[in-house]
Amino acid sequence: MRLKGKVALVTGGRKGIGRSVALTLAREGADLVIVSRTITADDSVVLDTEKLGRCVMPRQVDVGERSQVFKLVEDVLGHFGRIDILFNNAGIYNPAMLWKMSEEKWSEVIRVNLTGVFNCLQAVASPMMQQKSGSIINVTSSEALLGSMGQINYAAAKGGVYALTKSAARELAPYGIRVNNIAPMADTDMTKVIAHDPKFKYKYLERMPMGCFAQPEEIGPSVVFLASEESGYITGQTLCIDGGMVML
Ligand SMILES: NC(=O)c1ccc[n+]([C@@H]2O[C@H](COP(=O)([O-])OP(=O)(O)OC[C@H]3O[C@@H](n4cnc5c(N)ncnc54)[C@H](OP(=O)(O)O)[C@@H]3O)[C@@H](O)[C@H]2O)c1
Repeated sequence: MRLKGKVALVTGGRKGIGRSVALTLAREGADLVIVSRTITADDSVVLDTEKLGRCVMPRQVDVGERSQVFKLVEDVLGHFGRIDILFNNAGIYNPAMLWKMSEEKWSEVIRVNLTGVFNCLQAVASPMMQQKSGSIINVTSSEALLGSMGQINYAAAKGGVYALTKSAARELAPYGIRVNNIAPMADTDMTKVIAHDPKFKYKYLERMPMGCFAQPEEIGPSVVFLASEESGYITGQTLCIDGGMVML
């Protein structure tokens, strides 16, 4: 087990990529704090983590609400005494073409996908700086790197994540804290239209040399790598887990 004794905070862990990554981290020995707006102690990710013999703290938090995030981190430190890993994954989408994009849609996606990532990053930075160790894995997107049709709000937020990861990596490296991105492509609720509606599916598959969307379970091992000492000399990088769609 590569993460035995570590404490991992997973945002957006109730379903999709976050759920799957949370369970992969738990299988590698990590105790978990799993956050989403609606998670409860009865959710399958919580029960499955307990079945693996790990401690798990489920918490309803909106990552865009700064006070909720800082209270969460205070409670985690009170309970576990440390935070070793942040999987900064919670995200939403709300598409519209540029000329139809309302200010509400723009602001909400920026609030959750960019400010939410910043809130969690900043809240865990202080305890990790005191520990002089930590691994933070943010979630950006191919849309930040290639642009997108109909998701200018999402692409801008994920572009912000791509950039803030590099700044945080530079600022936190002297404290033994690494900060990296993943850019995944997986079949989840978020991608169900582009992965299954024939109107979009084939356009996407044409851009993916490996010719398929990943299952969420295929993302976890890369996150474990970035969370563990196996990647101890890697920081400020973006790992694309997308079947070759983006080649940096
Ligand atoms: N799937 C892909 O191919 C793909 C590609 C590129 C990037 N991504 C990114 O990967 C991450 C996970 O995506 P996914 O496909 O797994 O999406 P998903 O299946 O829709 O899951 C999103 C998760 O985020 C939580 N969440 C949403 N808003 C939140 C908020 N304000 N505060 C806390 N939790 C919140 C949701 O739970 P609640 O509803 O309970 O809050 C849910 O657990 C996102 O950042 C997404 O942008 C995904």
